[in-house]
Order: sequence, then structure tokens, then C-alpha cells
Amino acid sequence: MKPFPFTAVTLAVLLSSVVPVSAVVSSRRNNGTKCGGPKPSNSTTTVPPTPTTTEPCVVARDAFNSQVTVFPGVVPTIAASLAYECLKSVPVHKEPAIRLLDELEPFLEWQSDQAFLKNPPSDYPYPPVDIFGELERIRSNLEADKYSGELEWQEDLYKNIVGKPHNGHLAYHPDLLTVPFEWVRPFTLVSVSEDGISLPVIKVLEDTLSPSETSSHVVEINGVDAATFIERRVTDSSNTQDPDAGYNTMFFSQANKAGLQASGYFEGGGRERTTVEKPNIAKFHYGPYDWNNVVDAETMHKEFCRGAYATNSPRATARDVKSIRHTAAPTISVRSYPPPPISLARRQDEGEDEDESNKIDGYPEPIIITGDQIVSGYFIDEPGFEDVAVLVILSFSSDFLYFQSTVQEFFAKAVEAGKTKLIVDLQANGGGTILQGYDTFRQIFPDIVQDGPSRWRSSSTFNALSQTFSPLCANYTPKVDYQELDNPCTTVNNWRNDLNDTNGRFTSYVDKFGPLTASGDSYTNYMEWDPANPVLTRQAFDTDITGYGGRKNFTRPFGGPENVVLLYDGYCASTCSIFSQFMRHDAGVKSIAMGGRPLEGPIQGVGGVKGSQVYPFRQMGVLADTARSYTENPALVKELQRLDDTYVTSRSPFQPPVVNVRDAVFPGELESGIPTQFITELADCRLYWTESMIQNTGEIWKAAAQAAFKGGKCAAGGIVQPLKRPQIPASKLRGYRRHPLPVHRGKMLSSDSPIMQYMSIQVSD
Ligand SMILES: *[C@@H]1O[C@H](CO)[C@@H](O)[C@H](O)[C@H]1NC(C)=O
Ligand SMILES: *[C@@H]1O[C@H](CO)[C@@H](O)[C@H](O)[C@H]1NC(C)=O
Ligand SMILES: *[C@@H]1O[C@H](CO)[C@@H](O)[C@H](O)[C@H]1NC(C)=O
Ligand SMILES: *[C@@H]1O[C@H](CO)[C@@H](O)[C@H](O)[C@H]1NC(C)=O
Repeated sequence: MKPFPFTAVTLAVLLSSVVPVSAVVSSRRNNGTKCGGPKPSNSTTTVPPTPTTTEPCVVARDAFNSQVTVFPGVVPTIAASLAYECLKSVPVHKEPAIRLLDELEPFLEWQSDQAFLKNPPSDYPYPPVDIFGELERIRSNLEADKYSGELEWQEDLYKNIVGKPHNGHLAYHPDLLTVPFEWVRPFTLVSVSEDGISLPVIKVLEDTLSPSETSSHVVEINGVDAATFIERRVTDSSNTQDPDAGYNTMFFSQANKAGLQASGYFEGGGRERTTVEKPNIAKFHYGPYDWNNVVDAETMHKEFCRGAYATNSPRATARDVKSIRHTAAPTISVRSYPPPPISLARRQDEGEDEDESNKIDGYPEPIIITGDQIVSGYFIDEPGFEDVAVLVILSFSSDFLYFQSTVQEFFAKAVEAGKTKLIVDLQANGGGTILQGYDTFRQIFPDIVQDGPSRWRSSSTFNALSQTFSPLCANYTPKVDYQELDNPCTTVNNWRNDLNDTNGRFTSYVDKFGPLTASGDSYTNYMEWDPANPVLTRQAFDTDITGYGGRKNFTRPFGGPENVVLLYDGYCASTCSIFSQFMRHDAGVKSIAMGGRPLEGPIQGVGGVKGSQVYPFRQMGVLADTARSYTENPALVKELQRLDDTYVTSRSPFQPPVVNVRDAVFPGELESGIPTQFITELADCRLYWTESMIQNTGEIWKAAAQAAFKGGKCAAGGIVQPLKRPQIPASKLRGYRRHPLPVHRGKMLSSDSPIMQYMSIQVSD
């Protein structure tokens, strides 16, 4: 691209109808005398509305209507400032607001690390947050009529309950804040080092993809130093526990595009979408909502905060509840509003057949790839890298068996081709099925039994579920074939389920549930998943976890940990953090982290949430309904009734609300009880992205291979190969043994069954 074609004047004109974000783009040659910015893309062209009224929501409605008529099929937009005025005009609806705070409580009580959020270790990078203190403060403000409008209290709730905990498993998106509009900035940014050695600078993506002689970078946004501006956004609302990881999410990378369908959260999406920080454009959301019903600020609330008007809770009656236990898979109503872009889920539906031409944009030609592109394998076809294989895992959320067999097939091909080194690329990996993380670890190190202790918070509704399910499961034995009690008895609330932290069986209700008191809160005892449970493996996925059942006696495809390296961009969260813990702590594999803030020094690789389980509120409501169908004990029924998510879920229709219900704790931290979420773990090596890496992910792998296996330098830290490299004889390599693939009988549980939901954990925006 030529030096920016716009003058400051045209830029001002361009942005005048839209305003507030402006970027000062400075060229290295002439330090900011050439200013400009990319134009908003065609599909988001703003048609200036003709104001016919002073009601901003009516102006918005008219803009919507004129655009859908003139440009059908194009997402209508308005100036962000006007959309914001509309939202601000909506009056507070106090009673429904207070009801929302009340009904949030039983769900937030499950947030497992709340004592540590309130009182974090001294090296935790963010200020403390007292979730229940904040709820109380917001309630007092509502009662004292302190808010100027509906938006203000919703922003307060969002910023303090969702933003400040920086936990990708804790999310609540209040309706007015998220339903009518999506905020977009017409800039896609990258953070790259000019030479791979100097600190990264911020650039506009187009410049990086078609570099010119004049290399320019963004120095200011809204009059603030660009990096500082972006760091503030991260501090306010990132879903990562690590600031460098949060910084990375704001920028474009091929992995973010492939794995998250995002061009960096600076442009739009992520938790940024709900901080109304004067972005340039607001896209209208519509779908099931009808802008024609908006005639003033009051009807704006009525249309977009519909949940507040439901007269009676459609809570299941006693009779309906009875029928729940007979349903193998109560349908979890997934709200499909607004229609997601091209989600991973949809790509998954597009077929599992291996497609010869299936290739991820910005990645080399794969040796193997799943139809949904979640798992792919590569060899680096360049001199000096003949020994390196690369396994890319964009998430752990895919068809289990297909994922497992693709990894296995790739390792077999790699060993056959004489590859002795493995890069596991976990960029953009936000988790998925927990046991998929276990299986992948055991395919690389079949002989190492993973160690992943975890615990739950002992809340009163958690205990009511345990007191209902545990007696019910006295005579239950897990089997491959479906039994009526599978759903309640494979939850954590059956004390016989799960293993204790030395992989033995719990001996009693109290042995598992305690409660144990630590750090001023109450928890269950530490526990581990039981990867041999046939309901959670053969019944769910029609296969075993490697290392168990019919998949014992695998051997290591790449030998020791010195031949494997983990590659991160900080996003790694949830199941990815579980997998990483096994790889790093149990096997001793080294890691490389890309990017980070423009500050010298090492950074973390696993920057996303390290909590080891998440529950959608809806799932908790279903569990409580199931429990109520099995008990008439008035004390238990009263407690279980509190887990009615109908109202709170209806007021977060944009994205299902979720809460982090399980803490992961390192085996060495069981005494202190500090969750891994609050422990900084620096990667062994830090590398900066360069422009060529943004264009082609293969360039990242070469740099990673160089640093991990060939003595290459890192921007911080370094990976020293063992002095005496264990020579793995070719004969041993050829001896890589794998069990024949299990037969796919197509008899798996459906993905919305409670058991499948129970095992699936992913980060949430
Ligand atoms: C550009 O700006 C930097 C710091 O703001 C300054 O050190 C440098 O001398 C400037 N270069 C030119 C050509 O003005
Ligand atoms: C903008 O739209 C016009 C007409 O639809 C098209 O020819 C042009 O390629 C588009 N430009 C971009 C940048 O999408
Ligand atoms: C785990 O269970 C086994 C068998 O019941 C028992 O021997 C062991 O002491 C238990 N470990 C812990 C830490 O409770
Ligand atoms: C695994 O290997 C051991 C020793 O080589 C052997 O005794 C055992 O039968 C094997 N088990 C399976 C399931 O193949």
C-alpha cells in the first residue's frame, strides 16, 4: 500500500459523521506529517440518517429502516455516537433491575475463585474485586435512584462483575448493553517487531499484508499513546488473566482469524464489544428483534430488554419436572441470536470428510487436516527443518473420535517420514472437551499419568444437588449402555464419581465434599477426572482415552520432552490450560510465547482462564430441575428453586451467561490452595511477531523451531537443549506403536446432552 492516501483533512471528513476514534499514523520517515487511515469497508458504509425527531432511538430506527430498504442484505450501521445516545436515553427500570441482581446471586455463588479475586496474591496483575460487594453496591445505587439510565447500571454491572475478574469462564451480557448494537472500529491492527529483535509496534493490517517502502506505524489513538490506549481496554475488560495475552487478542493474526473468526478485538468483538468507548460505527442487530416497535426510549427498552417483561416465570411445573428425568437429553435452548458469523460449530457441520483442498488461510499446505480445520498437521519443507513436524490445534472442540484419530494418524505419518521434533501450536486455542486434552497429552506421552487436581466451591445450591444426587446413585454403576441415572450420577455431585487426588476412590460423601475451609472460603476436597469411566468415554465418544481401556500400550512418537515444544499466543484457556499443565508440569515440555505488550522481558504463554470447568446458567437450571424431580425434601426443594435461571438468562440473550465452577490447583499448591488462575507461569522463550509471520504462519514455526531445537535466540528467555542429546535410534522410532483405530459406530451422545455439556469447557467472550 502507498503511504496513506488521505490527508488529515479527508480523514477528518471521513470520520466526522462517525467520530470519536481517530488514529494518528506516523511514518518512520516523516514522523506523523502524513496522517490518515483506512476507509471503513464497503459492507459497513454509513448512511447519514436524516433526523426527523429528537428521540435518538427513533433516529436510529429510521436509519435502520432506510438502509434495509436501500441496501438489502447489507448490515445496517449508524454512527456509534448516535447509537450510544439512543442507549443512554433509555430510562432505568428499577424493579426488574433489582430482581436481576437478586436472581444472579445463586449462580455467582458457584464462582470458585471468588475469595482469591477479593484477595489476590501480590503478583496478580489486576486490582482485587469483591463480586458480592459490587452486587450490593449496584443494588444500593439502584435503590437510591443514582443511575441516570438503564445503560448506566448495566455498564456498572458489566464492568465490575464481568470485566474486572478477567475470567473467561465468567460472563454475563446485560441486554440493553449487548442486544441492539455491535460496536466496530474501522481499523484492523497488528503488533509486530520491525526486525524480530526490537519491541513490537502497532501497525494497520493492510500495511503489513502489502508492505511498501515507507513503513508506518500507529502512534496515537484518541490522543493517547496507542499501546497505552489498547492496554487500558485490556485492563477494563479482557477475558484473559494475563495482560500480555489480552494485548495480543486486540490484534490480527492468522490464528485469531482461523480459530476465533476475529480480526483482533480492537476492530470489534470479544469483551470489547460491550465497552462503549466511543468506537466509530455501531452495527444494528436485528433478527428476532423489530426496530419498528421502537417509537421512543421506553419502547426501546420494551423491545430489546424483553426478558424484563415476562409476567410469570415459565419455570417447569411439578408435572413437567417429573418428565425431565425421562429425557435422556433435555434440550438446552441455545439462543441463536444474533446469528454468529461462521462459527467453529458450523464449520464442523460442513462435513468431516478430508478434503484434498482443505487449507487454512495464511497457513502452509497441511499433511492432514480435519474437515472443520480444528486439527491439522504440517511438515516444514525447508532446508534445516526437515526433522520438524507441527501439530496445530485451534481448539479442543470437535468430533472427539475424529480429533483423536487425526492426531494419531499425523503422528504415524510424521514418524514414518523421519520427523523427530514436534511443535504443538496452541495459538487461539480457547478449549473444548476436557478429556480431549487428556487424550492428546497421552498420545504424546502415553506412559505419563496426568496430574490435574481441582475443586469446587461449596455453595448451598451445590450442596443441595450433592445431597439429592448422592443417595440416588447408591446402586448405580457406570456402563457403556445408557441408563436413566447416567445424567445425575456422572456429575460431580455423586460422591462416588471422580477420583481423589491420588487417583483412588473417595470413600464417603464427606471424604469428597468436606467441606474444607481454606482462604476464608469453603470447598470440596481435591479431585481428578476418571478417564476410565465408560459413560464419559465409550458411551459419550465411542472411544477410550489413550492410556486407558483399549488404548493402552501406545509408545511415545517423539521420545522425550526435549523434542517437543508448545507454541502460544497467550490466548490458551480452559481445556488448553489443562492440556498445557500436563505437558509442562508432568512431562517437562518447554514453551514459546509470541507477542505481548511493548515491554522487555518474559511473558506467559497460557494467558486465558485456567479454571478447569465452566457451567452455563442454563445447565445449572437443568440440573436443579432434574434434582427436584427426585426429592420432596422441603429444605432441598427450597434451595434448588434458587437455581432458576429463566429470568437471568432471558436478560442476557446475546450470549448464554456462564460461571467458573471449578478451580485447577497445581499438585504442589494443594496446601496453599491458590488456584492456577492466580499463578504466573512464564514461558521459557518469548518471540516477537514480524510482518512475514503475520502473512504466513509457517514463518512463526521456523522461528519457534530455531529457538526450541536449534539454539536460536529468544527476545526474552531461551531454550537450552540438553548437553547430551539422547539419540533416538531410527529403529526405535519405527517402533512407534499405535493401537488400531476404534470402530466408529456412530452411537455417540448428542452434543447437547447433559453429559457432553458437562465435559465441554471453553472460554467465553
Ligand atoms: C521522530 O520522533 C522521535 C520520537 O518521537 C524522535 O526521536 C525522532 O527524532 C523523530 N524523527 C524525525 C525525523 O523527526
Ligand atoms: C465496494 O463495492 C463495489 C460495488 O459493490 C465493489 O466494486 C468494490 O470492489 C467494493 N470495494 C471493496 C473494498 O469491497
Ligand atoms: C485416595 O483414595 C485411596 C483409596 O481410597 C486412599 O488410599 C488414599 O489415601 C486417598 N488419597 C487421598 C489424598 O485422600
Ligand atoms: C501391554 O504390554 C505388556 C508388556 O509388553 C503386555 O504384558 C500386555 O499384555 C500389553 N497389553 C495390551 C492391552 O496389549
